[in-house]
Amino acid sequence: MKVIVAENYEEMSCLAADIVKEVVLNKPDAVLGLATGRSPEGLYRKLAEFCGEGIVSFKKVRTVNLDEYEGLTAENSNSYAYFMKEKLFSLTDIDAENTFIPDGGAADAEKECRRYACIAGSLQRDLQVLGLGRNGHIGFNEPFTPFDSLTHVVQLTDSTIAANAAMFGSADEVPQRAITMGIDEIMRADKILVLACGREKADAVFNTVRGEITEACPASILQKHPDVTLIADKEAAKLLF
Ligand code: GLP
Repeated sequence: MKVIVAENYEEMSCLAADIVKEVVLNKPDAVLGLATGRSPEGLYRKLAEFCGEGIVSFKKVRTVNLDEYEGLTAENSNSYAYFMKEKLFSLTDIDAENTFIPDGGAADAEKECRRYACIAGSLQRDLQVLGLGRNGHIGFNEPFTPFDSLTHVVQLTDSTIAANAAMFGSADEVPQRAITMGIDEIMRADKILVLACGREKADAVFNTVRGEITEACPASILQKHPDVTLIADKEAAKLLF
């Protein structure tokens, strides 16, 4: 795994944007696996700038998002679909029809998982962007999710609910369940880019890069992938050195 330590969030975002830009310049119809959360926000801002400046076009790019809260439709401002539209899709020339995200509003979540697993399986990702949960989760694959999991419904842990509560106002408002792409599907991307920022990610970064490969830390499986770049700011990387 290649580890890059960035001075701060801004530098992490710029380095990440350069990597994504290269992928799209080399392959205009690239498939990008995308994540939500604070970690990739700066990256998305940069990509939108590149697009506005005519440096890169997303017209032919297809995107496959990692996860969505159960019960939240794309119109709900706390949904990941809304996040992606606001932070990236509406700011670029991407065709909305080429963007895929689990439907949190689906009446039958299990059926939605099967539908989404087909999408994830048929669109081979050139690059997968990942954030890291404080407990080492990737997507919404919480600790002890089997490494061979495919898209499934998860019960969120209290720590994840607490970490994501700020967006909702309070922990009580955070949905208890979500739909997430599985670890096996994440690992099938050709290239993986992990972003981590802040001291609360230091343990997760350490366990991802140096820890034992164990389902107790879902991201530790990334050590087995042949092409992973992890960009962390100094605080998140501090236990590595
Ligand atoms: C959330 C998301 C993940 C995200 C992670 C870290 O639970 N489901 O996809 O990577 O938490 O979020 P953040 O980048 O806001 O710290």
